[in-house]
Amino acid sequence: MSAQILDGLTVSKLIREEVRQRVDALRARGVEPRLDVVVAAQDPASLAYVRMKRAWCEKAGIISESYAVDESWTQSKLLDLIRELNANPKVHGVLVQHPLPAQLDESEVLLALGPEKDVDGITPASLGRLTADLPGFRCATPLGIMTLLKHYGIDPAGKRALVIGRSVILGKPAALMLLQLNATVTIAHSRTHDLPERCREADIVIAAVGRAEMVKGDWIKPGAVVVDAGYNKVEGRSGDVGDVDFESAKEVAGWITPVPGGVGPMTVASLLSNAVSAAGG
Ligand code: GUN
Repeated sequence: MSAQILDGLTVSKLIREEVRQRVDALRARGVEPRLDVVVAAQDPASLAYVRMKRAWCEKAGIISESYAVDESWTQSKLLDLIRELNANPKVHGVLVQHPLPAQLDESEVLLALGPEKDVDGITPASLGRLTADLPGFRCATPLGIMTLLKHYGIDPAGKRALVIGRSVILGKPAALMLLQLNATVTIAHSRTHDLPERCREADIVIAAVGRAEMVKGDWIKPGAVVVDAGYNKVEGRSGDVGDVDFESAKEVAGWITPVPGGVGPMTVASLLSNAVSAAGG
């Protein structure tokens, strides 16, 4: 038996069509939605992701400026830019692509970004709102995952969910969103004992650990939903490699996301949708 595919590319297209219509309605009211991007200038992977995000913005009718931040940038120069973007009424959303160059303090940058422009949902204010069940922008990648599950009629309520990874932009908010959807949630990480055993108990597995093909088919409970949020660079292989060993996992899982074409496009679609909301659409 082979798992059914959670097709993020196809579902993202539906969302992007909806976004396009919301953009058209905004433009008819004289509002030009704009999402600005701050990205490390010397990180080829980040630049590639940001290029895709900007291309999808343009296709949807969202204006996007980007700021390439290199080793010469000081913390105060970047904070000045963030304050400028906060104050600019033409800018509706700001994405700070992680990671920034090492000399910069990313946490301080995110603390400075106005929550009303945090369309990637990764500032402490947005994450606090998620934790407190208050309205606010939800973190784009886990939001994309929840939208994908919903599209395929997968309801986490009452299910055992295992999130592997505890990053601020992925593991932690994914766990909180699953909890909000009434799953029984476990967060696993590098210090977790018996990870394969914990994984075999899970009805839903979100792999967000950053280790290529770590999750094997024999870790998966038969029929489980497997979501792979990994995007690892592996020497000798082109493109991104997920955290799940797809070939073995698909033989056991009920549902599985491919890499590419699973979580990645859903992240971008969620970002665009949040950006249009920030513009009032
Ligand atoms: N770096 C890798 N993925 C992401 C993401 O979803 N958002 C941001 N801001 N940075 C990232």
